[in-house]
Amino acid sequence: MKRILNEDTVKKVGEKVSVCGWVDSIRAHGKILFLDLRDRSGVLQIVVNPKEINNAEDLRGEWVVEVVGEVKERPENMINQEIVTGKVEMKAEAIKILNQAETPPLHVAGDGKEINEEVRMKYRYIDIRRRRMQRNLRKRHEAAHFFRKFLTKKGFIEVETPNLTKSTPEGARDFLVPSRKQPGAFYALPQSPQQYKQLLMVGGVERYFQFARCFRDEDIRADRQAEFTQLDMEMSFVEREDVLDLVEEMFIKVVEEVFPDKKIKEKPFPRISHEKAMKKWGSDRPDLRDNEDELAFAFVVDFPMFEKFEKGFRAEHHPFTKPDASIDEIKKNPEKISAFQYDLVLNGEEIGGGSIRSHDPDILEAVFEVLGHEKEEIRAKFGHLLDAFKYGVPPHGGIAFGFERFLMVLLDEENIREVMAFPKTGDGRGLMMGTPSKNIEKDQLKELHINVLEDDEE
Ligand code: AMO
Repeated sequence: MKRILNEDTVKKVGEKVSVCGWVDSIRAHGKILFLDLRDRSGVLQIVVNPKEINNAEDLRGEWVVEVVGEVKERPENMINQEIVTGKVEMKAEAIKILNQAETPPLHVAGDGKEINEEVRMKYRYIDIRRRRMQRNLRKRHEAAHFFRKFLTKKGFIEVETPNLTKSTPEGARDFLVPSRKQPGAFYALPQSPQQYKQLLMVGGVERYFQFARCFRDEDIRADRQAEFTQLDMEMSFVEREDVLDLVEEMFIKVVEEVFPDKKIKEKPFPRISHEKAMKKWGSDRPDLRDNEDELAFAFVVDFPMFEKFEKGFRAEHHPFTKPDASIDEIKKNPEKISAFQYDLVLNGEEIGGGSIRSHDPDILEAVFEVLGHEKEEIRAKFGHLLDAFKYGVPPHGGIAFGFERFLMVLLDEENIREVMAFPKTGDGRGLMMGTPSKNIEKDQLKELHINVLEDDEE
């Protein structure tokens, strides 16, 4: 018999069907057993008479079973509004055990918030069976699907860019990958696809997006992971307002379609200057909610181009951002210059950042100089981009969103881990697989031309 989903049993009253899933719970009630069977669509109550089904009393939580039986309407007073199958139940006729399970090291019932984080991470494949995690993964997919559809309709194409690449400055440390074929040379994993997406604009793509994996070796926090996903975009022949209008439409629609229970506080999204944000709220990502249930989006605009620190200047966003100044002014008065940078803020989280880019190689060079790069260093690090800009670069700009940060807010989660299938712990370990691992063969290290220092040599 072909298996159907639990949620579809409500359409099959009076019919004999087959369902499959995990034993969510099993409890005795007088002479009969109530088995709650869980599958990806929800839970179904199954009534089992152990006298008719001889293996029924062996069943334990998390065993994987197939049950065949008749779907019946529940009596009025037994209807359970909490579950999708609440109006029906199944009368078991046969139970096939597909797989047994040891007693799980953590409960699947409930939201799991009381369970030790390390246990949840180590047994993540059990943890993601819980309803909250199933919902989060499903919503993550629905949001990704929405963004792909929306951007495709607007003429964007998704282009993948390399993960084995070269360092690109986004303010964090790089993860490095040693090259076997080029002794002593390393790839860097991308902190973002920033330079590639600009090169795609030189390449005439005009409208690019990507769900891009980004890697930043920085301290992990509630809203930060070392490996995360950006919804990354770039557009040619646009000005700031073109980018912001498109972003605004996209976020209003994703909320309407994927998170219809949520209410956006203010449309169009307020645009606040960086200066005002700092003066009024003391933060460049102010939380503008009046009450907890709202979604308070805002664009923060007109950032300073540079940030002063002990050793000189840093780019507030990144060096590819277009300064609102001439080359002379950039060199003379770096701290006074503002930039065509914008952030999208939601409930006090920075969920996206982007800018209109410098497409004039002379301006770009002036910015690198202010950042303290020597001419040769500029060539070595960014020569490819400066060269590309000699061959017909359209004016362009873009933005990237922290996909998990957006989901975290929309799904009322306090940690970005809750919207990722296999996140890392605060100190960057993957407890389930045991990463990072010292368990590397000597030969493999030799091939990679790597000599690991003993602890006391470090
Ligand atoms: P930025 O560095 O601001 O810009 O990153 C864009 C957005 O990515 C999210 N984000 C993170 N999310 C989770 N964990 C992290 N460690 C993490 N770091 C950043 C944030 C942030 O707003 N290339 C530019 C974009 C551009 O200019 O188009 C960039 O990466 O939500």
